[in-house]
Amino acid sequence: MARPGKPRTAMVAGGAGFLGSHLCEMLLDRGNHVLCVDSFITGNEDNLYPVKDHPRFSLLKHDVCEPIRPDRPIDRIHNLACAASPPHYQADPVHTMRTCVLGTLNLLELAERCGARFLQASTSEVYGDPDLHPQEEAYTGSVNCTGPRACYDEGKRAAEAMCFDFLRSGRADIRVARIFNTYGPRMHPHDGRVVSNLIVQALKGEPLTIYGDGSQTRSFCYVADLIDGLCRLMEVDPPPSGPVNLGNPDEFTVLELAELILDMTGSSSKIRFMPLPVDDPRRRRPDIGRARNLLHWQPKTPLRQGLAMTVRHFRRSLPDVKNAGPERRDLATSLGLP
Ligand SMILES: NC(=O)c1ccc[n+]([C@@H]2O[C@H](COP(=O)([O-])OP(=O)(O)OC[C@H]3O[C@@H](n4cnc5c(N)ncnc54)[C@H](O)[C@@H]3O)[C@@H](O)[C@H]2O)c1
Repeated sequence: MARPGKPRTAMVAGGAGFLGSHLCEMLLDRGNHVLCVDSFITGNEDNLYPVKDHPRFSLLKHDVCEPIRPDRPIDRIHNLACAASPPHYQADPVHTMRTCVLGTLNLLELAERCGARFLQASTSEVYGDPDLHPQEEAYTGSVNCTGPRACYDEGKRAAEAMCFDFLRSGRADIRVARIFNTYGPRMHPHDGRVVSNLIVQALKGEPLTIYGDGSQTRSFCYVADLIDGLCRLMEVDPPPSGPVNLGNPDEFTVLELAELILDMTGSSSKIRFMPLPVDDPRRRRPDIGRARNLLHWQPKTPLRQGLAMTVRHFRRSLPDVKNAGPERRDLATSLGLP
């Protein structure tokens, strides 16, 4: 939170993306100046619609793989710059690795020059296809360093390594969030993430694609909860000495998620089973004990409630789905949504 009388300047690299745009909004709400830095490789100007005319908001189109010299002092750097969905980060895997490694290094060096606090958006993918369940931060993971997901998984691991090297050598005050699957309004409708995929397919009356037999599990965190966790992690003092898992520990199979979405959208879509992608993790659930203890944080939004807000977003933003399936207004009403 900004100090009374002295607003902070917060940089959000990747601020035009799904999570970054929500973070920009939250930081403005809390009285900060916000500098959004984005190359728009997966980000979208529509995501910035609620903040673009805010007097404390500014935007710099820039690829973080190149060194960055902002025209003002920065107090906080949030590094969310990186495509997060497999089809996007695999489209140009070398650029993904460059973004994770060079991009993070450029922003860490900026933090060092400005004396800014630095928060790295890492990922549960650093655990790979985990042998330990649920995943706690001390678990070092089971990652394939040569597969198609490696550009992201290993890139994020390298980024974490650099963050902790900067911390150990006293070059920057860093914090690392290991983010688990997060969903909500402004997810890209066609980027292949399971929640957006299934909702869009259900709303369009298309078959819901499930990879494998649907028994693989995921834990889904609503975006507002996640952003609250990121802000707490940035402001906690003293900083945690290691990474902090942020995610929702409630675990669902992908088949359960699909059935819930069918029920909530009233869609008559069928389920279509497809082969499991390479290195797809079988189970994912965060141990959030560290976040509970250090940040006094835990997710508050039940899956059904978060999905209702996400379905409503997609109904509004995708013109071609308006008439697909009966709208479940009863659910929105029961949640007190307008
Ligand atoms: N959404 C999730 O469930 C999730 C889970 C784990 C980790 N994360 C991490 O959180 C961050 C944000 O994820 P998201 O879901 O908002 O993804 P997103 O793809 O919607 O947003 C990423 C943003 O970064 C920008 N970007 C990518 N490469 C860049 C570069 N080289 N220079 C400048 N900008 C660049 C994109 O244009 C986009 O606006 C990512 O770092 C991701 O790894 C997200």
